[in-house]
Amino acid sequence: MTTATLTRDPAVTRTAPRLDLYAPIHKALRSCMMDTLMRIGRLDVGDAAEMQATLGQFDALLQLCRSHLQHENEFVHPAIEAREGGRSRRIAGEHVEHLAHIDALRDEATALRAAEGERRQLLALRLYRHLALFVADNFQHMQLEETVHNASLWAHYRDEELAALHDRLLASVPPVEMLRVLRWMIPALNPAERAALVGGRKAGMPPEALFGLLDQVRAHLDERGWDKLARAIGVPQQPGLVEVA
Ligand SMILES: [Fe+2]
Repeated sequence: MTTATLTRDPAVTRTAPRLDLYAPIHKALRSCMMDTLMRIGRLDVGDAAEMQATLGQFDALLQLCRSHLQHENEFVHPAIEAREGGRSRRIAGEHVEHLAHIDALRDEATALRAAEGERRQLLALRLYRHLALFVADNFQHMQLEETVHNASLWAHYRDEELAALHDRLLASVPPVEMLRVLRWMIPALNPAERAALVGGRKAGMPPEALFGLLDQVRAHLDERGWDKLARAIGVPQQPGLVEVA
């Protein structure tokens, strides 16, 4: 899809007044993709600790992508197909390509870890370039989902039905995976979206779980972002005083 095509299509350029199942998770994915790509670009392949940390994040990104597309296949596409047969076919086909791309990237990272000396530098550059292509591909893909797929969902489902679908999807996500997703999602959202997400979860979480989540999130927010979130959900703003109100 070209930029010119996108700007001509009213379904594509419309801003969403409706419940958007894709926007928050895609903000998380874009953030994780861009951060990981930059870290691989600047990776010091002679630094064992940096290699481990950077490639660890790379592995987590691939797992996040794999899991995300499976959620879409399992929950979102059947909903679209039930009301508009064939509408999700193109995106489902791209998911098959993405899985192959993910496997290839995983193998490149394995080769990088096993390499010695100058070859390591070459393999790091190869991984950086191929991850960049994967990211570029995914950015196009996510735009289609957020426009064409959302248009279909909004045409055929009420927001309450979409919320119920989303709840079923979330119930299938193990807590450890959810924490990893929230690490990227919450900092990637704007302050109002962040407050709504964390505030909405606050009531249903044990205090220690909320404390752990806020602790994790705070490390990835700037001071103003943290102050706004703390104020909105009613927790102390001063450093070292993160407690459940
Ligand atoms: Fe997708």
